[in-house]
Amino acid sequence: MSKIAICPGSFDPVTLGHIDIIKRASKMFDKVIVAVLVNPGKKPSFSITERMELLREVTEELDKVEITSFNGLLAEYAKEKNAVAVVKGLRAVSDFEYEFQMALTNKKLNPELETIFLTTSAKYMYLSSSMVKQVASFGGDISDFVPACLYDKIYNRLKGEV
Ligand code: PNS
Repeated sequence: MSKIAICPGSFDPVTLGHIDIIKRASKMFDKVIVAVLVNPGKKPSFSITERMELLREVTEELDKVEITSFNGLLAEYAKEKNAVAVVKGLRAVSDFEYEFQMALTNKKLNPELETIFLTTSAKYMYLSSSMVKQVASFGGDISDFVPACLYDKIYNRLKGEV
């Protein structure tokens, strides 16, 4: 039976840190479903469709990776997709408390589902979508933070958005 993992997130926008985790997850699983959260409570910089398009463009060459979106509970979505694990990147101790809480909640809701944390590569320790938004909105260079092929699309949207 093929082992399926889910990499969930807001991906608003996708960063090099996300790509690093997706690539590493795809070495461990037969299929990796990247699931973009539809969160009506948040006002995103990129629509769901745009976020999925950006992810598709940058993962084009990764055969095992599928880009989807979901709303509602991740634990339920994982069941629907027959996923055995959620894979997330863990950057620093500051991430830990919230991630641990989510992992335990998901375990309670779906006891079959494991959460696997991959240690973020040192070069992406500090990186987050909100940091990318902040730097780009003030006209800063985000080339070390986002995939080169997406630079213009991401930068042009975020520049001036404060
Ligand atoms: O990139 P983010 O915003 O840190 O991703 C958070 C995400 C999407 C993983 C999390 O918000 C989530 O799983 N939301 C779905 C709702 C849910 O299942 N909640 C219960 C577990 S906390």
